[in-house]
Amino acid sequence: VSADIAALALGYVLGSIPFGLILTRLAGAGDIRSIGSGNIGATNVLRTGRKDLAAATLLLDALKGTAATLLGAWLSPQAAIFAGIAAFVGHIAPVWLGFRGGKGVATFLGVLFALYWPAGLVFCAVWLSAAAIWRFSSLSALLASVAAPASLWAFGHGDEAAVVALMTALLWWKHRENLSRLLSGQESRIGQKS
Ligand code: G3P
Repeated sequence: VSADIAALALGYVLGSIPFGLILTRLAGAGDIRSIGSGNIGATNVLRTGRKDLAAATLLLDALKGTAATLLGAWLSPQAAIFAGIAAFVGHIAPVWLGFRGGKGVATFLGVLFALYWPAGLVFCAVWLSAAAIWRFSSLSALLASVAAPASLWAFGHGDEAAVVALMTALLWWKHRENLSRLLSGQESRIGQKS
């Protein structure tokens, strides 16, 4: 039990580091929360015009999920799952930002790769295919996040599938404004400023 609590705490702290906010501030690109969608993730960092910062945000937000999950795995397989979900929750609800965090896509992917990397590849394939067709980051993430637990289940990883499905539900909830913009035809496409 103490290992699980340690995994939850470690995962949450790592996940709650808002790399998009930190990097844009350090680069003097303003407060990302007052740009575009106001989100702290890589998609919105790209709206500053800084592709390098967007790529670094994507990488670091993913790696914190991977790192948390792998550190948890060092304790036990169950602790890996706890650390991963805690990192995801840390990203979407960081105490440092009044629990107003990101939408969790990159961190979801980082956790997924650490839990079972083929499912991470499925996520990437679905995201890239959807983005190539429709050019909406949000829609790509919504579809890829459903494919992820489905593929885990198909690969015979039922426990991980159940936990990832919970993350998928949270990810969809965090994308509710994107969903209504998609439905009303007002969502901006990848790289568009607003
Ligand atoms: O990664 C978040 C993405 O799915 C949507 O971001 O800034 O367009 O709301 P944004």
